[in-house]
Amino acid sequence: MQNKIEVIGLQGVPLIKPGEDLSKVILQALNSNKIDLNNGDILLIAQTIISKSLGRLRNLKGIKPSGRALSIFNIIAQKARSKNISTKTPEHIQAILDESKEVIKAEHVLITETKQGFICANSGIDKSNIEGEDTISLLPENSDLEAKKIRDALKKATNKEIAIIITDSFGRPFREGAIGVALGISGIHPVIDKRGAFDLFGHELQSTIIGQADNLASAAQLVMGEANEGIPIVLIRGYGFDVTENASINAILRNKDDDLFRNKNFLENFIYLLKKRRSYKLDFISKEIEKRIIENCIDIARWAPSAHNSQLWRYIFLDDPQKRLELIEKINEKLRNDLRNDLKNEEFIENKINKTRVQFLQAPCLILSCADTGDLENYSDKERSENEFILGVQSVSASIMYFLLALEVNGLAACWYSAPLFSKEIVKKTLNLPENFIPMAFITIGYPLKEQKLPARKGLSEIIFKV
Ligand SMILES: Cc1cc2nc3c(=O)[nH]c(=O)nc-3n(C[C@H](O)[C@H](O)[C@H](O)COP(=O)(O)O)c2cc1C
Repeated sequence: MQNKIEVIGLQGVPLIKPGEDLSKVILQALNSNKIDLNNGDILLIAQTIISKSLGRLRNLKGIKPSGRALSIFNIIAQKARSKNISTKTPEHIQAILDESKEVIKAEHVLITETKQGFICANSGIDKSNIEGEDTISLLPENSDLEAKKIRDALKKATNKEIAIIITDSFGRPFREGAIGVALGISGIHPVIDKRGAFDLFGHELQSTIIGQADNLASAAQLVMGEANEGIPIVLIRGYGFDVTENASINAILRNKDDDLFRNKNFLENFIYLLKKRRSYKLDFISKEIEKRIIENCIDIARWAPSAHNSQLWRYIFLDDPQKRLELIEKINEKLRNDLRNDLKNEEFIENKINKTRVQFLQAPCLILSCADTGDLENYSDKERSENEFILGVQSVSASIMYFLLALEVNGLAACWYSAPLFSKEIVKKTLNLPENFIPMAFITIGYPLKEQKLPARKGLSEIIFKV
């Protein structure tokens, strides 16, 4: 191994346009920098110019975000807000999803596994160093292939044995600061396997594998810069390596089973979600909720268990503001009478009614959950019929619980209210519901304005009853 290498940034590389032949651009740049290629040179090329030459660009304006993109937008927008960071638009998120195989984490940033198998932020999509407000650059589909094409063309032109590395910079989970990574290689192996070699003291190395391509990419990054330095091509000279044909960056991509960090995430996120969901009443951000997001959540609520798989739950959108007002006023009338019968004083009653009004009328979305008793089993005796009814209530409750969790996943806050249960006939009549329907609960939904505090929970010993 050498004790000295040179890292030379090529000056004066012009802005690259789609369709441009990069090997020609490189040869011209070498020429104008008065450099002749030597055997053993390594050329490191920034991904941005590869993507530009390939036309791997998209205009955000032409992208229509899917329901999933909108859901993810809501999650990361909420997290970004709490950290005071700007967030990606739903269109940008759609582009990220289009480039990904899997979303690994949705924090204030999206961590994805790209279609190429890289795990990085935002599927490696870049907006910097790209002309145009709404234009983004996508990672090359096959950087190894692009590296090989350039290497072959340069070999043909110069008859020199060189290596090519296409580079990008990725952030790291445990340290601040992005570093250079190799996206594609040609002529050089991505790692040096030192296992079986001996250290200074004669101990056999058991697990040492050196990420040489990433190390070289990082060295190049020192002269490439990230901002407006405009040095997308770097020559590294004097680094000794074995020329390797058919090397591929895929050799170092860990498969899922060997990924020590990814496997646990799903379970941890799920447990976090279960504990994080809170009943949220007020206030909401004044932002409309896309109906299809709520429909997606109802779609998930279908997967709750139900006795005899009866699936007797029904969900009703109370979208019409006039109808909603009429319904709440009628429910409140009954509430007023009920409270008077309880001998509550008028001030208490007015407060209660005003609160109900605010909760149900100000929620951006109000859903009524019902049980369709037409889906219950019929029994000849009273006891079994009553039990069957309880099973129905339990099943609707399970579905509402799934619904609440699905809303939480979508960054939406909700609360389960039992008011309709206390005004069953009024609700049925006002909304003209089928005779078999029993109103069970209101669910108010909106984007939360603040964090909810964790309400008290009984200890485990209080709820595990020993017999
Ligand atoms: C069956 C059921 C009925 C509920 N009814 C009401 C209600 O009428 N009004 C209300 O403010 N909250 C209602 N809630 C919400 C509970 O008060 C809330 O779940 C409880 O305080 C625990 O808070 P958490 O959901 O944040 O853990 C209801 C919850 C359930 C499960």
